[in-house]
Amino acid sequence: MSDFAKLIIGEREFELPIHQGTEGHRAIDISKLLAQTGHITLDDGYGNTGATESQITYVDGENGVLRYRGYAIEDLAQRCDFTETAYLLIYGELPTAEQLEEFRASIRTHTLLHEGMKQIFAGFPPDAHPMAILSSVVGALAIYSGDTIDARDPEQQQLAIYRMMAKMPTIAAFSYKQSIGQPFIYPENRLTYCQNFLQMMFAVPSERYEMDPDFVDALNLLLILHADHGQNCSTSAVRMVGSSTVNLFSSISAGICALWGALHGGANEACINMLDMIRADGGNLGKYIDRAKDPNDEFRLMGFGHRVYKNYDPRATIIKEVCHKLLAKQKKPDPIFQLAQELEEVALNDSYFVDRRLYPNVDFYSGIIYRAMGIPENMFTVLFALGRLPGWIAHWREMHLAPTMRIHRPRQLYTGSPKREFVPLIKR
Ligand code: SDX
Repeated sequence: MSDFAKLIIGEREFELPIHQGTEGHRAIDISKLLAQTGHITLDDGYGNTGATESQITYVDGENGVLRYRGYAIEDLAQRCDFTETAYLLIYGELPTAEQLEEFRASIRTHTLLHEGMKQIFAGFPPDAHPMAILSSVVGALAIYSGDTIDARDPEQQQLAIYRMMAKMPTIAAFSYKQSIGQPFIYPENRLTYCQNFLQMMFAVPSERYEMDPDFVDALNLLLILHADHGQNCSTSAVRMVGSSTVNLFSSISAGICALWGALHGGANEACINMLDMIRADGGNLGKYIDRAKDPNDEFRLMGFGHRVYKNYDPRATIIKEVCHKLLAKQKKPDPIFQLAQELEEVALNDSYFVDRRLYPNVDFYSGIIYRAMGIPENMFTVLFALGRLPGWIAHWREMHLAPTMRIHRPRQLYTGSPKREFVPLIKR
């Protein structure tokens, strides 16, 4: 197959190089298109546009395949823990036992926040959404960790990565405690990453906290499954903001803001709210399937559909299995889980969804596990952000290590008014 694409514009013919990906995908390189042809391309929503080459995550939407640095998500979910997966995503290789312990120790020593940051939490009203708190306080790390904001300094970059990995669970848990008016629980470095987070979330000073190992395992798995997903909306936000060479904390804060949207990471919270609404409306699935299909109704099935997956999202498959196991073990039948399975069954037998290749995505079942663990709905997307953090960091770091790094500055096709003379106010 040719390594060039031919482009014919009027009488002129141009050759555009074609790059070959590891798994056979091919990309037409248009980096010289404007200079050569005087034309740009247009691709609203970037559905056909590759923003970069990347070696971090491979997503095959046609076949429902997801690999981090070449390792199948199914293997990592079964055989790794989250910090091991984070190391793999950020540095590119599975760590040796020594490397992993050093990574974990480097994170553990940075789990505390500067005491002054507690005043930021105190300033928020009790009903503040934890995602708004998270993005604000993560952004404030650029103030309190001011000695690691030079993104181009390798030592500052590395320490910023440890601090970001270490402080995200603390900020997330403090956001929750702030929203329910309970005292903050400080991290305990004798605990693992997931144990520490659950303890900071659910312990109270007046009682001994009994950690449920099933919840630790479920959290570990969910964080791994959410850890990266290529050039998704929030990761692209981290890369876009980071390309100006702003510090890691500000770049991650931008990613958190993008993730919050209901079309992206906010879908896990929106999905549970949707299922609760359907249940409260007598479980009338047909009514909501019809609404989702109605082009004049903005209602969508939350947790369904995906820009890339036109097959089952492999993460949804794994999460659904965990739902079955966890709920069975907890002897806690969840009517919402039953409803979700019925909704999936009805949708996947409806030509509207089949024709558009709409399947459950990562957000369809994850909320059911979070709820079984006692995590409130407004914290679901915070958990997504906790999982996605190493992916955001990996992409930010990969961008900085690329010799071709430059600020992201897309072009546009102007379709507004032609030049016109100014009209003074008195004449308007
Ligand atoms: C995540 O990019 C990533 O990798 C994201 C993510 C990650 O790990 O980072 O995987 C995480 O964000 C998962 C997606 C979570 N969002 C939702 O579950 C929200 C509901 N889903 C949709 O809004 C939608 O499917 C998107 C946003 C996910 C994808 O949107 P696209 O690719 O722009 O597709 P589209 O809106 O153009 O839909 C194509 C067609 C349309 O119908 P027609 O115009 O052809 O008639 O499918 C329909 C849409 O109306 N459609 C849906 C639908 N999703 C798409 N119809 C009903 N319910 C839905 N959920």
